[in-house]
Parts: sequence; structure tokens; C-alpha cells
Amino acid sequence: MTAVIEFKDFSFIYEGEKEAAVKHISFSVEKGDILLIAGISGSGKSTILRAMNGLIPHMYNGVYEGEVLIEGKSVLDTPMNELSRSIGFVFQNPENQIFAFSVERDVAFGLENQGFSSEEIRERVAWATGMLGISDLRKMAPFELSDGQKQRTAIAGVLALKPNILILDEPTSLLDPLTAKETLALISDLNKELGLTCIIVEHRLELAAPIANKMLVISKGEVRNFGRLKDVIVDPVIYLSGISIPPLIELQKALGIDDVRLTIDSFIREIVHR
Ligand SMILES: Nc1ncnc2c1ncn2[C@@H]1O[C@H](COP(=O)(O)OP(=O)(O)OP(=O)(O)O)[C@@H](O)[C@H]1O
Ligand SMILES: [Mg+2]
Repeated sequence: MTAVIEFKDFSFIYEGEKEAAVKHISFSVEKGDILLIAGISGSGKSTILRAMNGLIPHMYNGVYEGEVLIEGKSVLDTPMNELSRSIGFVFQNPENQIFAFSVERDVAFGLENQGFSSEEIRERVAWATGMLGISDLRKMAPFELSDGQKQRTAIAGVLALKPNILILDEPTSLLDPLTAKETLALISDLNKELGLTCIIVEHRLELAAPIANKMLVISKGEVRNFGRLKDVIVDPVIYLSGISIPPLIELQKALGIDDVRLTIDSFIREIVHR
């Protein structure tokens, strides 16, 4: 397995700060992984994402130590425009990402910036809106869309650039639970169909855990655990890091079940009916 993302003893102090925002971070992500990053507010999750897409150190100044490699290239030595060919970034608030007059203009925006031909743009917009199930909304204006539809539009715009890695920083925090679940299911589909490597920061573990295979727990800027999600999610370090555990996981821990199920459906199917 080849690592597509590798952090090697990475630490970063934002300019003007005394304390490091993140310290001695080491972990790696392989092609096709979905990595869930969990930690309380201020623990350093967004800082880790910025170190992946190059905002750190190319836009945020500070003291940079260690190394971050994306597809084998050091982020420190790779310009943002080159990194953006490998990595797509979806913000927490889709309002920051969509602003054109229509869904299709929005999805085309990044492609136009990268100088694709109009035929290629048409094809990719059709493909990305199809993948996100928003083909019917193509002529609609962003203000006419629901929050979930806005988030899909933002993801389609990033996907249209065909990145190998998709990073999502709290993509569902503005969505109701059902729409959030649907959005995460879509991300799981993209991962399965395209082999897209995904990194998700998400507070609602009960929604994100079922689609992820790896998990990183961060507290006060340091990695507390990293590995296979099913192993990490039952580690007591999660409580100690202030992260709330889904009741379904707590129940299974109390029952002494080692191989935890991550959804109610699979729990009922495999445990209750066993
Ligand atoms: N631009 C910045 N300048 C100075 N300090 C910063 C900056 N951005 C973040 N920090 C600090 O770095 C630490 C980690 O912040 P970060 O935004 O990475 O946390 P987070 O886990 O994403 O939090 P949240 O869940 O609230 O989004 C915090 O102490 C924060 O105050
Ligand atoms: Mg954050």
C-alpha cells in the first residue's frame, strides 16, 4: 500500500502565538481510505487539514517543523496550484464556496479557472452534477437551494476537478440529521465508485463512523490514537479527549462486544438476530 498522505513528526506554531497549534503529528493515509478526524473545538483539526492542502505554510505563516507529504511530494516545496490538482477541499459552510448565478456556473467555476476547454467543462459539469444527484438543479440559483443542495453543489464543484483526495471540514454541521446522513452516504459512494481518498472532520461520530475505515483522535494538538476505526472508536482515550461516543458504541462496550457494529441496522441484524 502506498501512502497518499503522510505526516512525519509535524508541528506548527501560528505566527504570533507562543503555543504550537499541533505537535509531533505522525500518521499516514492510504489510497481509498476514509479517515475520520475527531477532537473537540480548538484541538487542531482544521490546522491538520490546512497542512494537507498547503494553506499551511503557503498562506498561514508560522514555525513549521517536520514534514507533510501528499502523493510523495512535500507540501512545503509544492506550490498551492499544484497541490490543488491532487486535493479538493470542501468548507464547512457552502456559502463560502458557491456564489455564481446558477448551480452549473458554480460547478464550472473551478474548471474555468484551470483553463479547461468548454467541451471538457460541459462534460465534467454533467458528470459531477450526475454523481451528486443534482442534475435537475443545474439552472437553479444558489439562493433557491436548500442547505443540503448547496453542500452538494459545493462538493460537485470540487469533484469536477477530479482530485485524488477530498477533504471535508465539518461538511454536515449546517445540515439536519437526515440530510447530513445522505451527504455522508454520497461521500461513501464517491469513495467506492472512484477510489477517492477522503478526509472528514465531523463531530457527529454516529453519522461519520459508519462510512470511515480509519480514525484519528486529536486532543490539545496531539494525536491520541490513530488506526483502524473499529479499534480506535472503542478506545477510552476518546472520552478522555472530550469526544462524545455514539450511544450504540457505548451499549456494545457495556455488553462486552469486541467487534462493534457501527449502525443500528447492522447491530440488529448481526447481534440481536444472532
Ligand atoms: N489563524 C490562526 N492564528 C492563530 N492561532 C490559530 C489560528 N487558527 C487556529 N489557531 C489556534 O490553533 C489551535 C487549533 O485550532 P484549529 O482551528 O485547528 O482547531 P479545530 O479543532 O479545527 O477547532 P474547531 O472544532 O473549533 O473548528 C487553537 O488553539 C486555535 O486558537
Ligand atoms: Mg476547525
